[in-house]
Amino acid sequence: MRVLVTGGAGYVGSHTCVELLNAGHEVFVIDNLSNGHEEALNRVKNITKCELGFMDADIRDADVLDKIFTKFKPEAVIHFAGLKAVADSVIVPLSYYNVNVCGTVSLLEAMDRANCLNVVFSSSATVYGSPAYLPYDENHPTCPANPYGRTKLVSENLIHDWVSVDRNRRGTSLRYFNPIGAHPSGQIGEDPHGVPNNLMPFISQVAAGMREYVQIFGSDYETRDGTGERDYIHVVDLADAHIKALHCQPRLNPYEALNIGNGNGITVLEMIDNFQRSSGVSIKYELFPRRDGDLPAFWANPSLAFEKLAWKPQLTIGQMCEDTWRWKKNNTRGYNVSN
Ligand code: NAD
Ligand code: WQD
Repeated sequence: MRVLVTGGAGYVGSHTCVELLNAGHEVFVIDNLSNGHEEALNRVKNITKCELGFMDADIRDADVLDKIFTKFKPEAVIHFAGLKAVADSVIVPLSYYNVNVCGTVSLLEAMDRANCLNVVFSSSATVYGSPAYLPYDENHPTCPANPYGRTKLVSENLIHDWVSVDRNRRGTSLRYFNPIGAHPSGQIGEDPHGVPNNLMPFISQVAAGMREYVQIFGSDYETRDGTGERDYIHVVDLADAHIKALHCQPRLNPYEALNIGNGNGITVLEMIDNFQRSSGVSIKYELFPRRDGDLPAFWANPSLAFEKLAWKPQLTIGQMCEDTWRWKKNNTRGYNVSN
């Protein structure tokens, strides 16, 4: 299948390109490199020994999209492009609506013009908001607590409404829980521009000697050890869920939203412990007050994805830590600087 990947030079996108190429699909990436790296795509080619197309451009540029749709003729789109930092979204909400919502409108309009019928979308567990019960299943009420989460929910609704117009269309939103890990080759991984927002990049920067200690935000939650609990999913398992979604789309409901997680919670202290055991490096940490806006604990009920996609995560928390560490050790400064 010819697949257009928006945001393919980013973290989840680059790992998904590897799995797409390994499965024999043709891939074209559009990415404006605002948080992605062209070098990631060179490494995708190196890992897979396959070629892919790339355009450094913005998904809100209709002319560029039309050119890509005319030339590459994608049969499906996997839509990763977007902004993802929750705290930033509170400060510059309009930028988040502009890129995430207007970007999705621009993409769907281009798909309309090209009569491209299938889209898989990167959504987030953030759409659920404060848990009414746990684990979250797909029927849990959606009430995101921040602008980022609201842009994801609006985009899901946009895709739902777009699909409703034509019975041949398919839209599948994958609600990711907490993606971590890296490709086992150690060649691609997460390389956020600037200061990371998430736990795993902080732990790996401490392991690599770039920071002195991990700040643990909150040690008085009602969890096993008082620290925040999340459902971490290996990025390679997550990438695989996208391939399975593409393959299954003809048999799925026209619009489907599916949780993509492991179904287990891991606390911050448990994650640090796992990382120490996998890397053999000791990780210093200090306890800090809770971070504004953080939920104490949440994890997925992923059984609908198991059933609908015949997908199941294969990789353990130990492998998530080992692969993160291999990537970080080999690429201390990420893609841009030779180490
Ligand atoms: P990422 O920032 O690494 O990748 C997103 C890519 O989109 C980047 O390469 C960026 O340069 C590109 N991009 C941004 N705006 C663009 C635009 N206007 N036009 C073209 N390209 C643009 O993020 P990621 O972690 O790979 O996440 C991918 C998607 O998954 C995002 O939509 C994110 O919201 C969603 N998601 C991520 C997580 C997570 O924790 N990583 C969790 C849930 C959902
Ligand atoms: C995990 C746990 C923190 C950093 C965010 C988004 C969510 C999704 C994934 C996109 C929490 C604790 C963290 C640190 C810490 N992204 N922590 N010290 O907050 O679950 O989710 O990323 O859709 O939308 O909200 O992930 O990795 O930031 O935090 O103690 O330096 O680690 O308090 O308990 P989170 P996270």
